[in-house]
Amino acid sequence: EKQGHDWFMRKEIFEQPKAVADTLLGRWSDRGELVLDELRISPEELRRINKIVIVACGSSFYAGMVAKYAIEHWTRVACEVELASEFRYRDPIIDPMTLVVTISQSGETADTLMAIRHAREQQARVIAICNTNGATIPRESDAVIYTHAGPEIGVASTKGFLTQVVACYLLGLYLAQVRGMKYGDEVHAIVDELNSMPDKIQAVLDGIEPVYKLARKMAMSEDAVFFLGRHVGYPVALEGALKLKEIAYLHAEGFAAGELKHGPIAVIEQDTPVFVVVPPEGRDQLHDKVVSNIEEIRARGARTIVLAEEGDAAAESFADMVIPLPKCSTLLQPLVAAVPLQAFACELATAKGHDVDQPRNLAKSVTVE
Ligand code: F6R
Repeated sequence: EKQGHDWFMRKEIFEQPKAVADTLLGRWSDRGELVLDELRISPEELRRINKIVIVACGSSFYAGMVAKYAIEHWTRVACEVELASEFRYRDPIIDPMTLVVTISQSGETADTLMAIRHAREQQARVIAICNTNGATIPRESDAVIYTHAGPEIGVASTKGFLTQVVACYLLGLYLAQVRGMKYGDEVHAIVDELNSMPDKIQAVLDGIEPVYKLARKMAMSEDAVFFLGRHVGYPVALEGALKLKEIAYLHAEGFAAGELKHGPIAVIEQDTPVFVVVPPEGRDQLHDKVVSNIEEIRARGARTIVLAEEGDAAAESFADMVIPLPKCSTLLQPLVAAVPLQAFACELATAKGHDVDQPRNLAKSVTVE
């Protein structure tokens, strides 16, 4: 049932083009409008919402961080993201105009469940993004968007994460459409681009061998590994670090690239491996800022492994190794950038002889607070 793969995790990494396509399937009406059938909250109600709060744990929380950038950009509704375990116990400000979005692959995570119970007590409307039909969290929510990724067996989330990000994009675009925002007009173009993502993810997987080779080489050292990103690349960096901690038991940290000089740059030594997620070149300054961050850490001896759009000469000039990413817009880049980091962790943990599917101390769904 691992379909020729050594681990469920690896099988699930390679299933991602299909999983993402399945999340996107059947979401468009004949009239070319986005439809979310499972969303049992009326357009009128969604127009009244004045704040969105995303609550989740672990990788699902990082998917929520990606979502914040996209949802705020497309809808202009303020969106917060919070760890479910923190949200519940700080008396958060929520009311009937708040839309709480909860993200959970399993739909059984206790911290997340407690958070939505609390939100519903405050009369907030709750939408669950979930991969498991009929799980407790979707049952206790007002509405649900299923990710349709198929069962995820490996403890470390991969296709679960990617499809959560896609479902968040769909929600953001739907809200933009319903609320008639400026980006409502762009929904079409973004939807077209979303539909091209499965092929782009496949292209990343087709070219994964150099990443595996790097992982096997790095498995021989116990060096800490760092991940840098900015904007939506920041949660991707956090996710890359989490994968490595979970299954390779390595010290791994993700940082916001802009925070480097506020502290983290002090840990960079000669040959410290640092992965950097570079946004596509564009109208904003994001790309150039990250490239100058690579230059800074390289000057201090870091070994830079740079994930950048293919043909990005500026990023390549400071890279010890380049992991090329297919062209896509900044907001959608996490769908291709997260994949090599998952594959890297899987291969490194395999080379170290760990049980990738059942890492020590971890359970697939955390049903205690
Ligand atoms: C990471 C991982 C965990 C989960 C977290 C939330 O690889 O598996 O961090 O993402 O426990 O789980 P769900 O999404 O089931 O609520």
